[in-house]
Amino acid sequence: MTPIVSFRGVGKRFPGVTALDDVSFDLAPGDCHAICGENGAGKSTLMKLLSGVITDYEGQILVRGVPARFRDTRDAEAAGIAIIHQELNLVDQLSATANIFLGRERRTARGFLDDESMEREAARLLRELECPIDPRTSAGALRVGDRQLLEIAKALSLRSDVLIMDEPTSALTEGEVARLERVIARLRGRGVTILYISHKMNEVFQLADRITVLRDGRVVTTVERPATSPREITAWMVGREIADHDFRSRGPRGPKVLEVRRLTLPRPGRTQLNHLTDVSLELHAGEVLGIAGLMGAGRTELLEAIFGAAEPIWTGDILLDGSPVRFAHPAEAVAAGIAMVTEDRKRLGLFPDLDVAANVSLCGLHAAARGGLLSRSREDHLVEGMIRDIGVKTPGPHAAITSLSGGNQQKCILGRWLLTKPRILLLDDPTRGIDVGAKAELYQLIDRLCQDGLAVILTSSELPELLVLADRILVLAEGRITARFTHGEATEQKIVEAATGSQAPR
Ligand SMILES: Nc1ncnc2c1ncn2[C@@H]1O[C@H](COP(=O)(O)OP(=O)(O)OP(=O)(O)O)[C@@H](O)[C@H]1O
Ligand SMILES: [Mg+2]
Repeated sequence: MTPIVSFRGVGKRFPGVTALDDVSFDLAPGDCHAICGENGAGKSTLMKLLSGVITDYEGQILVRGVPARFRDTRDAEAAGIAIIHQELNLVDQLSATANIFLGRERRTARGFLDDESMEREAARLLRELECPIDPRTSAGALRVGDRQLLEIAKALSLRSDVLIMDEPTSALTEGEVARLERVIARLRGRGVTILYISHKMNEVFQLADRITVLRDGRVVTTVERPATSPREITAWMVGREIADHDFRSRGPRGPKVLEVRRLTLPRPGRTQLNHLTDVSLELHAGEVLGIAGLMGAGRTELLEAIFGAAEPIWTGDILLDGSPVRFAHPAEAVAAGIAMVTEDRKRLGLFPDLDVAANVSLCGLHAAARGGLLSRSREDHLVEGMIRDIGVKTPGPHAAITSLSGGNQQKCILGRWLLTKPRILLLDDPTRGIDVGAKAELYQLIDRLCQDGLAVILTSSELPELLVLADRILVLAEGRITARFTHGEATEQKIVEAATGSQAPR
């Protein structure tokens, strides 16, 4: 059978970086083909060539055996190839419907926008994705998980033969991933070929028929899934075996640094369901407190309330070293020694117009300032040290932040907050999009910082991450704490039960 897509000697160079080098492999029609590789391996770049985002490259891409060179994404879409980008591309001011039909608006016979037909179709697509949002909601008001589903709805509406998913589940929780897997199964039933990029091995092994591994822009191998194992793929990705590591070599925990008592956060303008109800917790120096829960359970809201980033309409108490605090703005929390790494780097964390160094140093400025003046060389020194510590792959500190791969951008945000030398670190899904090797390094870093007395609250949509890192785990369901486990007690099964319990049929 003619491959639906063939890469033939494809290469792409950016200033200072060879992103892709002599890449050749085929996609069989109807297959789910996974692309694995470390952060910066070239996965997104390859997908951008195929989908017409990047038009200037070496080598050839054949579509159904015919050489193709797309002028833009429209051109690729016309050939049946659509992409869901890793960095979501939605227009915040527009409604969900308008985002789905952006640039392809339906019109009535008289040339007016056919809002009714578009809304009906949007509602149908969102239903197919089991996504409960109103098609008239503006994209900016949606949480990152729903935004990701909206991107998927947009790609589905194109009825493409080849659908590229660049880390579609990085912001989804287990339940939502299962939902996406059902959608993928339905698409495959219609003969759609799927190109799937993910750092989550369990997904790759569940979904893929074939796996291509990229390392430093080159193809290491293409294998049939049944012929390999997650361990082998990981070893190909990083070029070595990753040792299993016990990330909890911590000593006894220190004094209580933070306490939350009966925190209740109403939803603005709504009376029924609170974001958070009666949440109480304690955090000690030197420990990692894990917060588990489904998307929308209130994990982010809890961290935001502590950090002064939620609307100050909550009741209850937040005590820092035993004294009540109520931060009106994150700057006050930062001044008190709290830092927060957020789940949505594009909206809340990155400054796309600034370079890598400026993105890393933004919060560390005061540390580098001497006599009120910031010395550029001192800033560079601090930033370069941090970039090394957390292993950011960049041509240099003054490269554009947008030129870094997704995972490396996330590492920069983490580095920025570490430079503020916080006493309390709030991590909201911090390893979203970070590869296995870098994750292991990050876990070791968190562990080291805890040994030095840092207190961490960690949320994660990946349970294994919580199980490995957290000394204690709280489970949130619909804004309430439904279970508390010690490291020894917690299992995936128990956490999932506590997280979904309130939704189980009574
Ligand atoms: N527009 C650009 N300008 C300069 N360099 C770029 C640009 N886009 C990508 N690169 C570089 O090309 C390399 C490959 O990046 P790419 O985004 O394809 O990685 P990736 O495999 O998708 O990684 P991740 O898992 O982190 O998303 C990286 O070194 C990156 O810094
Ligand atoms: Mg990428």
